[in-house]
Amino acid sequence: MNDIALAVALHILAIVWWIGGVAMVTTVLLPAARAMADPREGLAMFRRIEERFAWHARAATLLAGASGLYMILVLGLWPYFFVPSYWWLDAMVFVWALFTVVLFIAEPLFVDDWLAARSTKAPAETLLLLQRLHWIALILSVITVLGAAAGANGWAY
Ligand code: HEM
Repeated sequence: MNDIALAVALHILAIVWWIGGVAMVTTVLLPAARAMADPREGLAMFRRIEERFAWHARAATLLAGASGLYMILVLGLWPYFFVPSYWWLDAMVFVWALFTVVLFIAEPLFVDDWLAARSTKAPAETLLLLQRLHWIALILSVITVLGAAAGANGWAY
């Protein structure tokens, strides 16, 4: 069972790395960007920092997905996806899929161009929208972390 212990350790490392970064962007970077006197400057700062963090999030997402899939295959957890008290298994895959689509498909394909266009037209509104979307992603992630950590360690729902 050392392989499962290693998979859990890597899984938790990936989640700390990734969701910790999402929390930082949501609660520190975006409010700081919105507080800048010139919203265009704020959006430019957000884009510079987020561009670098996106590579961290992509790597952490891959590690979380690979370690999670390994555990599902080895432990034979597929049937539990249909058991209501294991809702947190479905929530993990949902949150993972959401971030994967944004980080690997939407951002490179059109979000970057859209942000560049909005940075001159409506920077303050764009920052507000980004902050709201990040709060939704963070709240979903926190509920999932709490549900998965409690559920995987014996909490009976
Ligand atoms: C494709 C994506 C993912 C898969 C396949 C997956 C799968 C798993 C599996 C199989 C476990 C072990 C469950 C058990 O021991 O019964 C687990 C644990 C856990 N996962 Fe995920 N997961 C994924 C994504 C995520 C995400 C996105 C989060 C957080 C937002 C997350 C947070 C956790 C936590 C906190 C644990 C509990 C670790 C522990 O205390 O043992 N996982 N995951």
